[in-house]
Amino acid sequence: MDKPFLNPPRSRIILALDTPDKASSLQVMEQCSDIVDAIKVNYPLVLTEGLSFITELKKIYGLPVIADFKVADAPVTNNRIARMAKDAGVDALMVHGFIGADAIMEIQEVASGDMGIFVVTELTHPGGLEFTRSYSEQFARMAAYLDCFGIQAPGTRPDQIQVLRDTIGPEMTIIACGIGAQGGTLEAVVRAGADYGIIGRSIYEAENPRQAAMDLAMPESPAAGEKPATVKEIHVVRYCSETDSYTLRVEPGDEMRDKVRQFIHYCRSHRIGLELNQDEGVLLKKHRSLIHVYTTGSCLISNLPSVAEGERIAHQFLEEIRSDLADL
Ligand code: XMP
Repeated sequence: MDKPFLNPPRSRIILALDTPDKASSLQVMEQCSDIVDAIKVNYPLVLTEGLSFITELKKIYGLPVIADFKVADAPVTNNRIARMAKDAGVDALMVHGFIGADAIMEIQEVASGDMGIFVVTELTHPGGLEFTRSYSEQFARMAAYLDCFGIQAPGTRPDQIQVLRDTIGPEMTIIACGIGAQGGTLEAVVRAGADYGIIGRSIYEAENPRQAAMDLAMPESPAAGEKPATVKEIHVVRYCSETDSYTLRVEPGDEMRDKVRQFIHYCRSHRIGLELNQDEGVLLKKHRSLIHVYTTGSCLISNLPSVAEGERIAHQFLEEIRSDLADL
């Protein structure tokens, strides 16, 4: 199983540590290391200080490091770059999408599950629209097909981030650049489907980099991979002494209500279950129990042998809805 490569998002800032040398980098890191979620290094700093500085940064601050090497050469050279990055302790490597699937797969082989791959899709500067825009969805589709860890997306164009998120689905990680200095905002890119924003100059060139990072950080949000609760509340609504069965009313979590409605729509269009009167929802049979799924998002689970069994069915049912919808 591959590593998760990055920590769960908190501030959602990936600090582009494009400072000129080790001393200035450490100065910025001393102020921001507890705020940012990861560090991104690029050629100028690594050409000045060497790959060993990546190892050092990781050792001092314990943060994941992304190497923005935008790898784009012949496989023999790409693979050497990837091997060197991996040996230095890089957690994720950025590679250009236009090198094609075979070249990316070779880099994945070198990474062998120890280093994630971000495929660069579309550059943010105006020239990015000349060529990379025409292919960004294809690059994203390829990245998803190859099970890459994630993609880079243009933070200056949230609409395009949304298109790319729809293209790759909910699981892969999106990092968006162009935040701050180029006008993109962290809030807009996260709303559009990015997991993290890459921010450089707006932090390291600020008079007070710590304050700048704090001002730019997103308020703490649920950790990546940590799903919002499917079930908010469960109430026992009736006990039928005649039949010894229980009925539970299940109130899903806020995020889940919309999914329940989508699920009803899916059931109707695929003739699953029994449609309830007046567009109220659908009725499903689950083993020996019945589930009324209402358009309000609530569910009523009846004919239950015990409350515990009902709770188990409630959690399982809503989890199934969540994963079925993710697979659609
Ligand atoms: P700034 O200072 O603009 O730093 O916040 C951005 C960092 O991200 C790298 N990078 C990109 N920058 N368009 C960009 O403007 C892109 O498409 C892009 N992809 C990566 C940039 O090299 C710098 O390290």
